[in-house]
Amino acid sequence: MKTPGATERVHPADDASIERAARSLAAGELVAVPTETVYGLGADAANPAAVAAIYSAKGRPSGHPLIVHLADASHLGHWAREIPEGARRLANAFWPGPLTLILPRTALAGDAVTGGQDTVGLRVPSHPVARALLAAFARLGGLGVAAPSANRYGHVSPTTAAHVASDLGGRVAMIVDGGRCDVGIESTIVAFVDGRAVLMRPGGIGADAIARVLGRAPEPPGADAPRASGTHLSHYAPRTAAFLVDAHALATEMLRLSERDEVVAVLARRAARPAGFDGPWIDAPGDAEGYARELYANLRALDTAGADAILVVAPPAGADWDAVRDRLARATHRG
Ligand code: TXA
Ligand code: MG
Repeated sequence: MKTPGATERVHPADDASIERAARSLAAGELVAVPTETVYGLGADAANPAAVAAIYSAKGRPSGHPLIVHLADASHLGHWAREIPEGARRLANAFWPGPLTLILPRTALAGDAVTGGQDTVGLRVPSHPVARALLAAFARLGGLGVAAPSANRYGHVSPTTAAHVASDLGGRVAMIVDGGRCDVGIESTIVAFVDGRAVLMRPGGIGADAIARVLGRAPEPPGADAPRASGTHLSHYAPRTAAFLVDAHALATEMLRLSERDEVVAVLARRAARPAGFDGPWIDAPGDAEGYARELYANLRALDTAGADAILVVAPPAGADWDAVRDRLARATHRG
């Protein structure tokens, strides 16, 4: 581990710096890696000491399972002892890309990575820098990179290298800067329980797209589904109190808070700033994809705007907003 303050920020991510990052991973160090969803805090998944360092850097309680990132699907067999037909179909359809599969683990997937469960989370990311780094790590004999989102535990996930630096600067050996993440929210997680597909976390790939590939809709998580930390409420939360409000109630709610002398910040959607309001205001994109891409950067910006409360205009109903609604429900959960 590096001493505090020794984080190297790598930009641009050229061949030489990717090679250095791969060697750093092979040496058991932590490297923050851009993916198409969010930045990941990477460590050699086959090295329990390196994986343990992830937990201390994040301040995350141990026992939470991590996702192992693979250079390509040919590495699946190292980590999964059983690959149901449906899982193979999803991997073929969506890898590389924002899909995580939860599958029965091999002995290589140790307790540090799986949280002691009999399953392991696996994904092949599509971000070119992640792919190059995973390939370079594989050339050094690496089999997979365990990486949770590169934020302090419970905080908003990072979608730029600057977000990572503000949460984890001094706690990681390197931050590889791959620009802004394209999807902006975490991968869709599908677990296979007795051959049945269970949607554990909505994400960049919609349930409808998964249903098309499987020929049936994935089930909602039931009592027999594996645990997932991202399914706890009050994850992905800004430090400022955040509230979901319906668009038609926004003006009333703004007035109510400002009468109590509270400084209000607003994450709106396709709305004009009301005349006379001079507080922090972000008008987010009106489409679900664009909204998701900018969501965490917007929450982080409003979180540091000096407001007492963040009002988030509730997104519309409709399946394409499922993942955004899921993250906003957690970001605004009280208690
Ligand atoms: O897009 C993503 O998935 C990002 C990027 C970095 O790949 N990673 C990410 O990791 O979101 P993290 O640790 O913040 O969330 C991983 C989620 C957690 O909800 C965890 O509980 C679940 O995956 N998970 C991982 N392995 C699991 C397993 N064996 N059983 C159940 N849930 C698992
Ligand atoms: Mg996370």
